[in-house]
Amino acid sequence: MSIIKTTADLQDWFQQADRRNKTLGFVPTMGYLHEGHLSLIRAAKDQNDLVAVSIFVNPTQFAPGEDYESYPRDTDRDYQLAMEAGADVVFVPAVEEIYPPGASTEVTVTGGITRKLCGISRPTHFQGVTRVVNILFNIMQPNRAYFGQKDAQQSLIIKKMVRELHLPVEIVVCPIVREADGLAMSSRNVYLTPEERQQAVCLNNALQKAESYFKSDTPDHAVIDKLRSIIKREIESHPLACIDYCEIFDGETLEDIDEILPGKNALAAVAVKFSKARLLDNRVLSI
Ligand code: PAJ
Repeated sequence: MSIIKTTADLQDWFQQADRRNKTLGFVPTMGYLHEGHLSLIRAAKDQNDLVAVSIFVNPTQFAPGEDYESYPRDTDRDYQLAMEAGADVVFVPAVEEIYPPGASTEVTVTGGITRKLCGISRPTHFQGVTRVVNILFNIMQPNRAYFGQKDAQQSLIIKKMVRELHLPVEIVVCPIVREADGLAMSSRNVYLTPEERQQAVCLNNALQKAESYFKSDTPDHAVIDKLRSIIKREIESHPLACIDYCEIFDGETLEDIDEILPGKNALAAVAVKFSKARLLDNRVLSI
């Protein structure tokens, strides 16, 4: 596996690897890899001749005061894990490689899809994500790119960007990988204290309760207000958990819905703050 820091070296690597005659799967990450990231690398390995992983803690998707400086980093361990999962090349650019001094080109997906859920508490976040993903796609020119359902809103926004900018890449969204007790894996789980870690399973448990109710034959089983209150009540019974949002929207557009109709996906999504960590989880509900 090669470790590459500049776009120029990456172009040389592509030439040596005969990239033109091969398919390339690309997994963008911010590093501190865990099984969730590795599942994306393995899926890319299954479906492509070559696999590229990027590790880049992207400053433009963090607002001032967020955890950009303290975001966990361990690149040597990441290289080892990426290699074992099947990566052929890891791209670890410096900030100036992605954003040369004076860079000021933005890529913005507008509308409700970026203004709801995480777009409320992190209003500039998705603009940073679409900006960097667009740059990385241009550098890599992958046939397929792999994202996690864990960040459901991010995956929907990237798909919309790709569709509307006619980018020649297929977006593959992979399922959420969880710890044994159901907590969705996240690089930010390291911020949890042992007591918070125990209570953090409430995100998955709450979504599970709502899903079970949705699958029951109770008359109001598909009513959004009812399902949302089940999720809220479960999370609120954990004193260290503070709800940032708890919402159920249309699973494609994130538009408001009152009820889950047959043939339509709904996305039940939660963000919950524990002192230092803000955790996300979600379920797609459909009949
Ligand atoms: P990061 O948080 O490192 O996540 C990289 C990819 O791994 C994302 O597509 C994310 O959804 C996926 N992922 C994280 N946890 C997962 C889990 N438990 N199961 C399955 N997939 C999981 O998301 C980002 O980085 C950045 O915003 C990025 C897209 C790299 C742009 O900077």
